[in-house]
Amino acid sequence: MENQEQFLKNKPSGIKKIVVVASGKGGVGKSTVAAGLAMSLASEGHSVGLLDADIYGPSIPLLFNLKGKRPFVVDKEGKSYLVPFINFGIKLMSIGFLLDTKEPVIWRGPKASSGLSQLLNDTLWGDLDYLIIDTPPGTGDIHITILQNIAADGVIFVTTPQEMAMDDVEKAIAMYKNPQIGIPVMGVVENMSWFTPSQHPDEKYFLFGKGGGEKLASEFDIPLLTQIPVNEKVGESCDSGRMGELTSSQPIYDAFMKLVENIVT
Ligand SMILES: Nc1ncnc2c1ncn2[C@@H]1O[C@H](COP(=O)(O)OP(=O)(O)OP(=O)(O)O)[C@@H](O)[C@H]1O
Ligand SMILES: [Mg+2]
Repeated sequence: MENQEQFLKNKPSGIKKIVVVASGKGGVGKSTVAAGLAMSLASEGHSVGLLDADIYGPSIPLLFNLKGKRPFVVDKEGKSYLVPFINFGIKLMSIGFLLDTKEPVIWRGPKASSGLSQLLNDTLWGDLDYLIIDTPPGTGDIHITILQNIAADGVIFVTTPQEMAMDDVEKAIAMYKNPQIGIPVMGVVENMSWFTPSQHPDEKYFLFGKGGGEKLASEFDIPLLTQIPVNEKVGESCDSGRMGELTSSQPIYDAFMKLVENIVT
């Protein structure tokens, strides 16, 4: 407890809940889950913001078709603020809007940490029920900044069903569970759980193994929040910046609604 007081964890006053989406491993679907969660919360009538903190590969500009855009800056009471983009009713801000992504990652690290605090505090979020933060893979600078400086209400871990993905996510969970600076772990999202061909809606093919999410959840005594199948609509909509189509297939919609239910309650 003593250590906790060394860090000034902060949350802008208009934001009710900050939820971090993390994973030890790259490419497991963190950004997809963060964006889908934001979209699904917004569709249920919540006011939502999405903050992309991935210095290595910011995804929000791509997912929401905002590549190359720069946010407006406005002055308010002698201070400059960033105006978030709004898509599907979600307020969007990305570290990608501020960083020179051609700069080597080694230089980006420390800048990104101060950049993240700036994005949280100097963006005109207004009143939000939920701010979702998408994070880079691993347990590096950005995660340390989140743990030390941001009063987050919870973290969700994304994994795929393989053992390999689980080793890395175990390390990340242990970091977020740190008794001094940790934040509540809300649970696990298993992504790419199975594939169901549209011609055979009753069949499930476990392409990447089976049961990983459940195993992880029971190992850490945390809930398995949802399982998201592999679906071509997900890849297509993400890669082409058509987020509106992300949950257009019923199994994906259902999986995200289950996640929303579990997050809200
Ligand atoms: N359930 C799914 N079905 C089909 N494709 C998916 C699914 N989930 C994610 N993908 C695709 O997999 C790729 C990786 O997903 P995403 O970018 O969300 O992962 P990430 O964990 O954020 O990666 P990174 O570590 O690089 O930030 C993307 O092309 C995405 O569209
Ligand atoms: Mg990502």
